[in-house]
Formats: sequence, C-alpha cells, structure tokens
Amino acid sequence: MIRAVYPGSFDPFTNGHLDIVERSLLVVDHLTIAVLKNTSKKNLLEPEKRVELIREVFKGREDISVETFSGLLVDYLKMKNTTCVIRGLRAVSDFDYEHAVFLMNNRLLHEFETIFLMARSENSFISSSIVKEVASLGGNISDQVPEVVYRQLREIYNK
Ligand code: PNS
Repeated sequence: MIRAVYPGSFDPFTNGHLDIVERSLLVVDHLTIAVLKNTSKKNLLEPEKRVELIREVFKGREDISVETFSGLLVDYLKMKNTTCVIRGLRAVSDFDYEHAVFLMNNRLLHEFETIFLMARSENSFISSSIVKEVASLGGNISDQVPEVVYRQLREIYNK
C-alpha cells in the first residue's frame, strides 16, 4: 500500500486543495492531510478547527486521514513511516518556493520525495489568503471552498 502525506497550512482548506487530494489518490492508496501547527504564523483558524473542517469534508473516507503536525516535516514523515509528500503547483510563481523546500527536505532526509500535481485551470487562481481577504470584505467565495468551510467563514466574517 502506497501512503503519502499532504502537508500544508490549509487556513482555510479550498477547492484547490480538495482537487489535489482527490487526484493524488489516483496515484497513492492512502493520504494523510497534515495541518501545520505553526505558532509563528498569524492564522485565521486554529489548527484543530482546520482539522475538524477537513474531516467533515472527507467524512466516511477510509483512504484519507487528517491530523496536525508540528516541527520538521521530515521528522513527521519518519514518525509516519513514509517518505512521500504531495504538493500542488498553481503557477510558475509557486515553483521557486517549492523547489527550495524540496531541496532542503531532501538534504534533511535523503529518501524524501515530493509528487507535484498541477492545479486545474479552474483552481489555479484560488489561494487561502485571497479567499480570506475576499470573504472578510463580503465577497462571494462559495465556489472556491467546500460548503463547511464556506459556512465557517461566513460565521466569522458576518459577525
Ligand atoms: O500550505 P503551506 O503554508 O504552503 O505549507 C507549507 C508547509 C507546511 C508544507 C511547510 O511550511 C512545512 O513543511 N513546514 C514544516 C517545517 C519544516 O519542515 N520546514 C523545513 C522545510 S520548509
């Protein structure tokens, strides 16, 4: 059984992330969506809330687990007994960062591998930070995030 980890901030989880999850499962048998607990970054949603929302999106799916992680990704991978990571690429602008992260992780763990999936054109403009900004200003982002995430953002910003 091929297992992989899809790490990220997912603040919030978008339809772009959703598409990467579904397509990665055409390549691997089981995916763990790993939400980074990052104390230095200012996030909208608590990591546990992000996990709760993503679990709701994939309720009943045995091929998907959702959990938090902290510290180095390579240490988390060792703990999970895998070396394979999934990442999405939207545009050339994502490449430099992803390349640098891959090189660093590969330096830290020689067996480290990343499977990069290109975002579909309809998702290539979606980013968590833009979704938050538009939602905070009252714009409609209902077609860019799963229903549960949409409801959560409305609850936060419609107060
Ligand atoms: O969704 P993001 O914010 O682009 O995800 C970035 C993430 C979580 C994959 C990356 O920041 C990460 O793996 N952080 C864990 C700390 C770490 O291992 N850093 C060294 C490689 S950058």
